Amino acid sequence: MKILVINGPNINMLGVREPEIYGRENYASLVAFIEQTASDENIAVECFQSNHEGAIVDKIQSALGVFDGIVINPAAYTHTSIAILDALKAVNIPTVEVHISNVAEREYFRQTSYTGMACIKTYAGLGFDGYNRALLFLKAYLESGGACTI
Ligand code: DQA
Repeated sequence: MKILVINGPNINMLGVREPEIYGRENYASLVAFIEQTASDENIAVECFQSNHEGAIVDKIQSALGVFDGIVINPAAYTHTSIAILDALKAVNIPTVEVHISNVAEREYFRQTSYTGMACIKTYAGLGFDGYNRALLFLKAYLESGGACTI
């Protein structure tokens, strides 16, 4: 099972950016955490981060026929990007959205998720653990042929 983990703009600034919201651990720690979970669960994982909308669209398109599932934290593009929404719909790969912070309790402009409209589930406000939960959910979903919705 191959899962692509995509992180959007400013996620490379973890540990520096607003630590009271996003925590003190950096992006390298996030990648190590994801890789550990993937290895424990026998999942082949690739982590990709970009600050550029088009690069994220390109990466999603290139996942077609290569990856079984996608975990995505589109960061600010969550709330603006119809292009990323359309790319996720185009490839139609089961996708789970993750947010480190609890977007539901933040500013009004974070209350809409365009990208979430193409996702089978969203985890928000769980810190790094949201990525872990997303991988476990996708694994169960894919192994059950899409029947599992835990
Ligand atoms: C975020 C939430 C977004 O609103 C914000 O723009 C981010 C990170 C999160 O992980 O909590 O950059 O996606």
